[in-house]
Amino acid sequence: MDHPRLAAQYGMVLAAVPDATLVADRSGRLVLVNALAEALFGYAPGELLDQPVERLIPQRFQHAHPGHREGYFADQRVRPMGAGKLELWGLRKDGTEFPAEISLSPLHHEGTAFAVVAVRDVSERRRQEEEKARLHAELARASDLMRQELHTQSRDLGTLARELAGRKRDLEAALEAARAAHAQAERASRVKTDFLALVSHELRTPLALLHLQVEILTRQPPGGGLDQKAVRRLRTASRRLRDLVEALLQHSRFAGGHVGLRQEPVELRRLVEEAVAEHEPLAEEKGLSLRLRAEGTLPPLPTDPVLARVVVSNLLGNALKFTTAGHVEVALLQDGRDQLVRVSDSGPGIAEADRERVFQPFEQLDPVAVKHLPGVGLGLALVRQICAVLGARLELESTPGVGSTFTVRIPGPPPADRPVAPPPSA
Ligand SMILES: Nc1ncnc2c1ncn2[C@@H]1O[C@H](COP(=O)(O)OP(=O)(O)O)[C@@H](O)[C@H]1O
Ligand SMILES: [Mg+2]
Repeated sequence: MDHPRLAAQYGMVLAAVPDATLVADRSGRLVLVNALAEALFGYAPGELLDQPVERLIPQRFQHAHPGHREGYFADQRVRPMGAGKLELWGLRKDGTEFPAEISLSPLHHEGTAFAVVAVRDVSERRRQEEEKARLHAELARASDLMRQELHTQSRDLGTLARELAGRKRDLEAALEAARAAHAQAERASRVKTDFLALVSHELRTPLALLHLQVEILTRQPPGGGLDQKAVRRLRTASRRLRDLVEALLQHSRFAGGHVGLRQEPVELRRLVEEAVAEHEPLAEEKGLSLRLRAEGTLPPLPTDPVLARVVVSNLLGNALKFTTAGHVEVALLQDGRDQLVRVSDSGPGIAEADRERVFQPFEQLDPVAVKHLPGVGLGLALVRQICAVLGARLELESTPGVGSTFTVRIPGPPPADRPVAPPPSA
């Protein structure tokens, strides 16, 4: 059945619509097909005219289609694209299929009902939807994994934090124990120092008495029934004891920090001369040459005369004590504002490895050799402590087998202020 007027009236419109569009009559025959529809289904121009619409539907849906068609013509309404949830498929001439979306609109022409069918190939949209779904699934999986990972990691972090807290507690306990041990050691050291001070102090008075009596004894004329050798031994022993107690007392004073520092102008030359004079008998006794070398006249310098004296006496006493042949020299030098006292000897010398040790309290390099000599290894410790208090630098140079040189650098007075320039006269 031809509908030439239909074609004349709607052909132009159909050619212009943007969708593949076909018009079918009630029996399902195609009466109008636009170029887009022919291209979509793969047919040549005009080839689909008068063909049943079922040719454009895959076989598996064909048997149900006439029923649907009848239903539509019985109740013609506009069914826009995507209105139905049906999954529709188009069949191309070459037998391939494509997912389609279809909209139906009724058309009445000269008393006859037609259906206008617009078809859209939605493969691309389907593909995109599928892709979107796939991406969604992937995203969900990834976020799931991430959540799991985060969960694990936060659990690990929790464990780590707990472990760290435990370790911190251990460290704090260790630190506390170390602090307690340190405090304990300090207390013990203080007790020792106090004890030393007390004992030396208590020993001092009876010792002085003993010493005095021994000195009186040695002055007795020979032949008074006294064993002179025994008296000399007694004197040596009592001197030794006195020196020992003095050294202990001084050491404990320094270790306890009880030391008052005096500062007054001191003529070092006088001080050194006195110390040398005091040691001359010992030098003579040992057959050593004892020299004093002083550079010109040195100005008095502010320091503590008693402490400076202890330093010089100790260095000089050591030099004479440990030197068996040769000489001992005390040199007095001026270096800028500082003054240097240098005690050198031709004694056994001190090996590099022992140069720190000799300054430690109670350290003696050769205890067997010094067994019969006075001293308990406190002299140099005291010298070092005093030098620190005086702000003096103490240096030791020595060559084993050749001799030793101890140098004490006593700082001079601070530079006097420069004369103030008179203000410019008006
Ligand atoms: N001039 C020196 N030459 C060689 N050795 C020395 C000299 N002075 C000190 N010593 C060494 O350093 C040690 C420590 O000296 P010191 O503290 O004065 O103790 P002490 O004189 O009581 O032995 C001495 O026992 C000695 O071994
Ligand atoms: Mg000594």
